[in-house]
Amino acid sequence: MSRPTTPTPTMRAVSQDRAGGPDVLKVVETARPEPGRGEILVRVHAAGVNPADWKTRERGMFATGATPPFTLGFDVAGVVAAVGAGVTLFGPGDEVFGMPRFPYPAGAYAEYVTAPARHFAPRPRGLDHIRAAALPLAALTAWQALVDTARVQPGQRVLIHAAAGGVGHLAVQIAKARGAYVIATASAAKHELLRTLGADEVVDYRTQDVAATVHDVDVVLDGIGGANWSRSLRTLRPGGTLVSILPLDDTFPAARAEAAGVRAVFMLVEPDQQGLREIGALVDDGRLRVIVDAVFPLERAAEAHESGETGRTTGKIVLSVTPAPGGREVPPSGDVRDAPER
Ligand SMILES: NC(=O)c1ccc[n+]([C@@H]2O[C@H](COP(=O)([O-])OP(=O)(O)OC[C@H]3O[C@@H](n4cnc5c(N)ncnc54)[C@H](OP(=O)(O)O)[C@@H]3O)[C@@H](O)[C@H]2O)c1
Repeated sequence: MSRPTTPTPTMRAVSQDRAGGPDVLKVVETARPEPGRGEILVRVHAAGVNPADWKTRERGMFATGATPPFTLGFDVAGVVAAVGAGVTLFGPGDEVFGMPRFPYPAGAYAEYVTAPARHFAPRPRGLDHIRAAALPLAALTAWQALVDTARVQPGQRVLIHAAAGGVGHLAVQIAKARGAYVIATASAAKHELLRTLGADEVVDYRTQDVAATVHDVDVVLDGIGGANWSRSLRTLRPGGTLVSILPLDDTFPAARAEAAGVRAVFMLVEPDQQGLREIGALVDDGRLRVIVDAVFPLERAAEAHESGETGRTTGKIVLSVTPAPGGREVPPSGDVRDAPER
């Protein structure tokens, strides 16, 4: 007599089987992963949306060379559903957030992910899943650039480009928390917000020449690249540091950087539990606020990408994957805005 077979548990995910525009993102029913040794299975409540998501959707996994099919999503916030052999750090029911496996996608556009336990940290107490999912990639980038790479010191002058964006608005606050004097670039409509986040000076990059306005800077965080690198170099004092979060390609004016006596580095964010814990502590202390520009349900991931690809996001865009009971995390409109209307 044959035994009845247990059906493999499945889950909802947004996947793509080819590179392309937002329309390649499709809702699929797929096998639920099982946690391996050292891994946790997380019931995903929310997934952050990052420029890396649409770059990967369009070009394939630029940092790893992998090609579709795959499920996007680097940022995870959720609840531990099960743990693999050897995991002692977390147990079922723990609330976690993280950017596991980067630069490979965690596959966070899905109801479950598995990943190494130590790529996660406990979710900050004061944040719901939506806001927790907005943090990991952007906040770790800001933290690793300013704290680990540039070692920002109290009193230093720090210039943050694209300061109203996902990385930028967190970088402004992290630099302030390190005691820096912060100069932020953004379009004029976003200046008031940046001041409330702690920026000491704001520069409208659309109407002002940043390189002529800003000087004697110790550290620049450049999330723009291209022609902006020259502007960044001109603001730095000798001995200062340019941290670019775009790869320094052949167009980077390396000779100018050398002549100016500045250090220029490309930094790629890494999974980092200690960084997540430091970021969580800043949130719990009320010194780091994450701004969520819009929330879309998982099945509207394509719209979330279209919105992000405008390049005008204030703060972060998040996908709600498993709404909290009562649906509090996805208002009827599908959108929440902490930020001023664009
Ligand atoms: N290396 C890494 O590890 C790493 C990690 C994270 C992100 N990144 C990269 O860093 C870049 C920024 O990421 P993000 O998540 O912060 O993007 P984002 O949230 O999409 O940035 C949007 C913001 O950029 C501002 N902006 C656009 N053009 C600008 C310009 N010329 N000057 C100043 N501000 C400008 C916009 O402000 P306005 O509306 O005022 O123009 C908007 O608020 C992306 O290319 C991303 O791929 C790299």
